[in-house]
Amino acid sequence: MKILVTGAAGYIGSHTTLLLLEAGHDVVALDNLANSKYESLRRVQEITQKSISFRQIDLLDDFSLDEIFARENFDAVLHFAGLKAVGESFVEPLRYYQNNVAGTLNLVQSMAKHGVYKLVFSSSATVYGASGTVPLVENSPMAAVNPYGRTKIQVEEILGDLSAADPRWSIALLRYFNPAGAHPSGLIGEDPEGAPNNLVPFVAQVAVGQRPRVVVFGADYETDDGTGVRDYIHVMDLAEGHIAALGHLMTSTGAYRWNLGTGRGASVLEVIDEFSKAAGKTIVYEIAPRRQGDVAVSYADPSAARADLGWSAERDLKQMCQDHWRWQRTNPQGY
Ligand code: UD1
Repeated sequence: MKILVTGAAGYIGSHTTLLLLEAGHDVVALDNLANSKYESLRRVQEITQKSISFRQIDLLDDFSLDEIFARENFDAVLHFAGLKAVGESFVEPLRYYQNNVAGTLNLVQSMAKHGVYKLVFSSSATVYGASGTVPLVENSPMAAVNPYGRTKIQVEEILGDLSAADPRWSIALLRYFNPAGAHPSGLIGEDPEGAPNNLVPFVAQVAVGQRPRVVVFGADYETDDGTGVRDYIHVMDLAEGHIAALGHLMTSTGAYRWNLGTGRGASVLEVIDEFSKAAGKTIVYEIAPRRQGDVAVSYADPSAARADLGWSAERDLKQMCQDHWRWQRTNPQGY
């Protein structure tokens, strides 16, 4: 099949592009390179020995986007492009709504105009906000607590309305839990701009000596060791989830919501401990106050994806830390 991948140079986009190429698909990769580098896609081609067609365009550039749809005959679109820093979304909400919501509107308008009705969208467990009881199931209420999360809810609602209005659409809304890890080659991985907001890339930068210590946001939660618990999912499992969802869309119409998580929670201290074993060194940390907006515990009920897609996460925290460390150790400055 011929697949358009938006945000292909990013962390999850690049790992999924790799699997699409390995599965024999033709990929047209779009990215504005705002938070990513083309080098990730160069390496994807090096690993797979297959080539992609890359276009550096922004989804807000509806003219260029439409031109691509006019020229290519896509079977489906995997839509990863978007901004994802929670703190930044409070400071620049309009930029978040513009990129994530208006960008997606441009994309689906071009798709409809050119008769492409299959779409996989990168949503997030953030849509559950602080209200859900664990494990989180797909029909838990949506209640984002920041502008970034609201962009994900809004896009989910827009795509739900679209599918209700026009039965030709097949849409997968994939709610990612906490992605970590890297391709086992160590050639591609997560390359955050500036100080990482998320735990695992921060721990990795401490392990490689770029930062002095991990700051643990709260050790007074009602959890076994007092630190926050999350559902860390290996990025290769996540990428495989996209391939499974794409397969499902080929034979069905409608809008589907699937959690992509492992169903298991790990605490901040467990992650630090497992990463320190993978890296073979002590990782210094200090306990600090809670981060505003954090919940104590979040993990998925992944049974819907297992039942509908035959997909479940296979890799554990140990492998995630080993793979993440291989990438970080060999690419201490990222790409
Ligand atoms: C965060 C975002 C979420 C987003 C997701 C994307 C917030 C409040 N939530 O989720 O909206 O969808 O990233 O991947 O920002 N931690 C530390 N020290 C750190 C970093 C994190 O102790 O330096 C702790 C956190 O308190 C939390 C856990 O590690 O308990 C995981 O944090 P993080 O990786 O930021 O993910 P989420 O908070 O789940």
